Formats: sequence, structure tokens, C-alpha cells
Amino acid sequence: MNGRIGSDVEHAAALLRSGEVVAIPTETVYGLAANTFDEGAVLNIFTIKERPSFDPLIVHIAERDHVMRVAKELPQGAQELMDAFWPGPLTLVLPKRPEVPDLVTSGLDSVAVRMPAHPMTAALLREVGVPLAAPSANPFGYISPTTAQHVADQLGTKVPYILDGGPCAVGVESTIVGWDPQQRRWVLYRPGGIPVERIEALIGSVGMSDPSKLHMAPGMLESHYAPHKPVHVGDVSALLKRYAGRSVGVISFSTEYEADRCEMLSVDRDLAEAARNLFAVLRELDASDCALIIAEQFPEEGLGRAINDRLRRASAR
Ligand code: TXA
Ligand code: MG
Repeated sequence: MNGRIGSDVEHAAALLRSGEVVAIPTETVYGLAANTFDEGAVLNIFTIKERPSFDPLIVHIAERDHVMRVAKELPQGAQELMDAFWPGPLTLVLPKRPEVPDLVTSGLDSVAVRMPAHPMTAALLREVGVPLAAPSANPFGYISPTTAQHVADQLGTKVPYILDGGPCAVGVESTIVGWDPQQRRWVLYRPGGIPVERIEALIGSVGMSDPSKLHMAPGMLESHYAPHKPVHVGDVSALLKRYAGRSVGVISFSTEYEADRCEMLSVDRDLAEAARNLFAVLRELDASDCALIIAEQFPEEGLGRAINDRLRRASAR
């Protein structure tokens, strides 16, 4: 039974209702889900991931108006953001209702919430009938999973069921924005699947999160999304010279390099395709014979910002 992979939504729902943790597909990455209001089940998520309790979870909902089950009020602009980008890879950090366990939000007075776009998980959320708290389904600090097999490889013995919804269509985590009551504006906590340019086109300029509050958003920790092997990001040709003689795996946008392995994320220079391939390629190179990984800097626009953010954190030690 341990680590069973399947596509039985009703089985997954029954497990979740009985207080179990289940791995679920979303359009961004796979999540490790539990009933938001069941503290024992939520505690299990932290145990399975070996996640520190100061790292709050994202709550996933089935319908836009279910947001009021976890949020106390909607700041200005929230409705526009929900209407434009839900279901989809945008997470809103909102003032929280007292019913949401402190464990879910790490004691913060805000809650992160999103409505995922994956049809199987949308059906699951409707079937379970409660919002599901879910971080990415990887051991804390490692690369996020974008297939059911990625989850099985690392957490297979620790979860009773992995709901297989195929490879993730977006491939990087949701963009996180939060309402800052002091600044009275939205701030960006994490670049992700919805380009920040699209958010700003809708609600005006978005601020940067305060680095002194970084402990509140460990997705923003300097080292995160990290393979076991060293990662270097920058000018690939220069880095290949510096590490000449070593066995190197290269991650590039669309240029072929002379290296032991060269993984082009998108021959057509399509950032969405590159984002979709990023984590699987990082995992492959991490499992390969290469001693180190060299990655190119992507265009700092649209999904390129999320890709560069993940590569930078993967390279931090
Ligand atoms: O795409 C996604 O967002 C995926 C899928 C599964 O939905 N989930 C995900 O969760 O990436 P996780 O736990 O790996 O990252 C969630 C990030 C964490 O860095 C956490 O600190 C931040 O969201 N977060 C959660 N609640 C927050 C809050 N109240 N204020 C600021 N940041 C918060
Ligand atoms: Mg994560």
C-alpha cells in the first residue's frame, strides 16, 4: 500500500477525510496535502517533509468564494486578482480567519491561499469538501517534484497514496503576492507561474518583500530547490573553462554546449517550455555521473524570473 501511485480521486478523498496525507498533482508542482482544519494531519506533512514549523503552508481551495473559509477579508485588488488568475498558479497571502490552525500559517496572522488549475485536484477538492493545506511534495530544501514518480522516488515509503495527474503543465511553483497592511500595497514573496508583469498590468506596481522578514517565507530562503551537486549559474562558456577537466552537466535555454551532458530547456526559446522542463532536468543531472551543474542565466522577464530565482537558490550554499 505504501507509496501506491494511481488516479483514483475517490480513494484519495477518502484517505484525506480520514486524516491521511496524500500527494496531489497541481499545474505547478506536486503537493503533499492534508485537511487544513485537521492539525494532526497537517503535523504529518511537516514530519514527512522534515519541514521546519516556521515555514507556513499554502491552502488550496475548490472555488473562488471558498477563499472566505480561510481569509477574514479581501484587501483591495484581491477580487480582481482572483477573477483574472484563478484557477491558476497565483497564491494570495491574506488576513487569516482564526479557524485556520496556527500550524498551517506558522503562527502568522495571514494565510496563503490558491485555487489550483489541475482538473484532477479540482475534482478532489470538491469531493473532499474542505480546503487542503499543501506544500510542494519534496523533502525540505530539495527540488520540487513535477511527476508522480518524482514524489515516489523520495517520499514513496512515507505517503499512503500518490494521485497521478501526469507531468505538471507549468513546472515551477505559484507566484506568491501578499497584501502588506503597513505599505498598503501588494508585495511579491516569490516569482512563479504567473509573470509579475501580468499582475502589475492589473493592479499596478507590486513591491518587494522586506528581506528582514525572510524567515516568514522560506521559499525565499537563500538555499532552496537545491540538488545535492554544486550548481553554478552564469556565463556558461566561461564556467566551462573554469571547470575544464571536470565532468559537467549544462542547463541552457537553447544553445548547445560542448559538455558531458547538455540539456536545452527549450530549443524554440519558449520560457513556458523551459519552466516546464527545469526541475526534471535538475533532478536528472543530480542523479547523473556529472560532478557539477552549470546553468545559463535566463532572460529576466516573464517566467524567466521564476527560472532564474530557482536556479539562483539551487546554486546557493
Ligand atoms: O505552486 C505552489 O505554490 C505549490 C503547489 C503544491 O501548490 N506549493 C508550494 O508550497 O510551492 P511550498 O510550501 O513549497 O511553498 C510555499 C511558500 C513557502 O515559502 C511559504 O513560506 C510561503 O509559501 N508562505 C505560506 N504562507 C505564507 C504567509 N502567510 N506569508 C508569507 N509567505 C507564506
Ligand atoms: Mg516548496
